[in-house]
Amino acid sequence: MTASNEWWRTAVIYQIYPRSFADGNGDGIGDLAGITGRLDAVAELGADAIWLSPFFTSPQRDAGYDVADYCDVDPLFGTLADFDAMRERAHALGLKVIVDLVPNHSSSDHPWFQDALAAAPDSGERGRYIFREGRGDTGELPPNNWQSVFGGDAWTRVTEPDGTPGQWYLHLFDSSQPDFDWTNEEVRKLFRAVLRFWLDRGVDGFRVDVAHGLAKVDGLPDYTPPADSGSMGGDEPDVPYWAQDGVHEIFRDWRRILDEYEPARILAGEAWVQPISKLANWVRPDEMHQTFNFGYLETAWDAGALRAVVDSSLDSFGSVGAPSTWVLSNHDVIRHTSRLALTPPPVQGSGIGPRTQPKPDAVVGLRRARAATAFMLGLPGSSYLYQGEELGLPEVADLPDEAREDPTFLRTGGELYGRDGCRVPLPWEAAAPGTGFSTTGASWLPQPAFWPSYARDAQRGIPGSTLEFYREALAARRAHGLGSGALEWVEGTGEGLLAYRNGDVLVIANVSAGAAPLLDGEVITASGPLGEGVLPGDTTVWLRAPKG
Ligand code: GLC
Repeated sequence: MTASNEWWRTAVIYQIYPRSFADGNGDGIGDLAGITGRLDAVAELGADAIWLSPFFTSPQRDAGYDVADYCDVDPLFGTLADFDAMRERAHALGLKVIVDLVPNHSSSDHPWFQDALAAAPDSGERGRYIFREGRGDTGELPPNNWQSVFGGDAWTRVTEPDGTPGQWYLHLFDSSQPDFDWTNEEVRKLFRAVLRFWLDRGVDGFRVDVAHGLAKVDGLPDYTPPADSGSMGGDEPDVPYWAQDGVHEIFRDWRRILDEYEPARILAGEAWVQPISKLANWVRPDEMHQTFNFGYLETAWDAGALRAVVDSSLDSFGSVGAPSTWVLSNHDVIRHTSRLALTPPPVQGSGIGPRTQPKPDAVVGLRRARAATAFMLGLPGSSYLYQGEELGLPEVADLPDEAREDPTFLRTGGELYGRDGCRVPLPWEAAAPGTGFSTTGASWLPQPAFWPSYARDAQRGIPGSTLEFYREALAARRAHGLGSGALEWVEGTGEGLLAYRNGDVLVIANVSAGAAPLLDGEVITASGPLGEGVLPGDTTVWLRAPKG
């Protein structure tokens, strides 16, 4: 049994993307008051915790991942008092609250960056970021060849206060997101204070943005990634800006701060690092508590590949005493309802849009997604859900170009669609204006015409709906203690089938398109309709396991 102080080892953590969850003031952008008003739905779903993407002061050039003040709420989302009300409501409902920490970069609107622009090249103000002289006769070329995750150069040249073309600053993401220099003690001090600010305000933990990017190799050597590598990158060995050893002492420093608080507060790292055995270094006992398992997210719907990634996850995380985590969707990837119907899956960040051919088949995609979710929720450890997946929402492909806001779309001249398609505001009530997302019907990204058919109220209480399937699976997961269980593969179930036992539950996934015979046994839940003695293709069933 997991000690209650270690709630995070088995938690199902529901990601709220504030601008798209619920809009309390009718301006078309979700906000904290909107979240507070709709939190019952998350508790009713059966989640243990919520993680909120950034709601801090920000010019919103990267949807809030460009923070101008780490210790305040952007007026778009409300006030600190609205945050307190939201946190209180969440805690009253038994939900832990995790907020996003964005330490790799600030917004270019952050006072420190504005001070750096106004200061001299070798000043202390510039030393908090990564400013360098350019190459070429007059410094007209960027200091190295690094490319931004969102496309284009990772460097932008500044105009010095005297009007002359000057130094360059590094931004692994948008030019509005200058990277901090984490060798600078002032930067470390700032983030210690940010951690304490939110801990003292009662948060239960932090999801740490780009936790594989904080340390860069000295001298910033050139690096050319392989053409097919995903944009968030740490999959290749020796990338001079990803997964450097220097990140670990930063996490140890933060862990010491978190350990001063009771009950346990957690750090969950967003680290795109492969192989999983290397990623396990992020969750050694004195570092983070959890890290996202993007190796799992990126695994195709294939029995052999799934078995291999589950084994390497349990082995690698288990070897350092950490729980494995599992995730299928978030605000940066194509929703798994659509992704699992695409072969081969596109690289992270590319998105789908009008030019994507062939289009993912919505029926196949949803069937696979539900089967994949049932397979995931039976696994021991902690699982992340992304808002809207419990409704079976697909990625929205047909957003008009002018509505798209993702810097990936803007910086690649539309060549990559980016991540807007998974960020369309949620449908709550089929018949309400804006499907109940806002009182006025306004929505910062247009909701497609088919949205009402996915609305929460159209699924609530309807047997077989995606929402009821999620609720049933989460309730059974809790009742059978699967989060704190142990996995044992069951052999010999047949080709295309993958089966494991966790405690008294036998999970069988039919990862092929064709039907398979269904073992006798009491059905606890299933991702889709079962035939008489038949496990249809792309379907997962949980049976009460025979004793022994
Ligand atoms: C992380 C976030 C993503 C953001 C990026 C830059 O990957 O999840 O949304 O764009 O970091 O902060």
